[in-house]
Amino acid sequence: MDLAHILAFTVFPYMCLATFVLGHSYRYITDRYHWNARSSEFLEKRSLFAGSVIFHWGIILTFFGHAGGMLVPQRYFDLVGIDDQAHLAIAHWSGLAVGIAAFVGIVLLLWRRLTHPRVRAVSTINDTITVFGLLFVITTGLFNVLFGDHNVLYTVAPWIRGIVTFTPDAALMQGVPISFQLHVTAAWALLAFSPFSRLVHIWSAPVFYLFRRRVLFRRHVAPARATPDARRI
Ligand code: HEM
Repeated sequence: MDLAHILAFTVFPYMCLATFVLGHSYRYITDRYHWNARSSEFLEKRSLFAGSVIFHWGIILTFFGHAGGMLVPQRYFDLVGIDDQAHLAIAHWSGLAVGIAAFVGIVLLLWRRLTHPRVRAVSTINDTITVFGLLFVITTGLFNVLFGDHNVLYTVAPWIRGIVTFTPDAALMQGVPISFQLHVTAAWALLAFSPFSRLVHIWSAPVFYLFRRRVLFRRHVAPARATPDARRI
């Protein structure tokens, strides 16, 4: 194993993870006012709705698919009767569906950002890098699903588990096709970029909103013949 391989598949992931953790902590402490999705809904609604809904469903389900499929070792799937062939088939078809959704959504969002005059006027270089970065990661991922004839269950999956459990083994990534290597490397880079972009909003998903107490709004209509005192109530 040469030095470049170790740098790419052990050192680089940890550099990205460290930037991810420290960067988010620093930004949260120092720049909480700008910790948001920088919504542009008030400038243009229609194409945002289509692009954003399709993209968010696709990318969030992709995220859970990656976590479930990669971080859980195959032996646990075997226990519930899902052998590696069934696992790969489930990953392939579900990955294809959510990957296509994420791809179509991000293309719509990119098209809106580049062509809508008002959205374009408020877009920063950072926004463009974010959307192109996502497009690259999603496109390489989709390419792997469609054309990457490679069983990741015994290479990329244990490699990622090794990274997150602090037992890295870059040798597992040897012989993995270049399109998979590009996909994972771009994904690490995007994680490292996240604290410096609007992607920070991901980590503030409003889940508590679902459980919070309801806020009641009552319409007060002053009675037609009310006295001046009653109208003030
Ligand atoms: C965790 C749940 C998430 C919530 C609640 C959420 C919510 C939002 C909201 C409210 C916007 C602003 C839309 C507007 O302009 O009005 C937005 C934009 C965006 N989100 Fe998310 N998001 C989530 C997850 C993600 C994930 C996982 C990614 C990508 C990895 C992502 C990437 C983006 C991008 C790139 C935009 C900007 C789109 C554009 O205006 O071009 N989001 N999100």
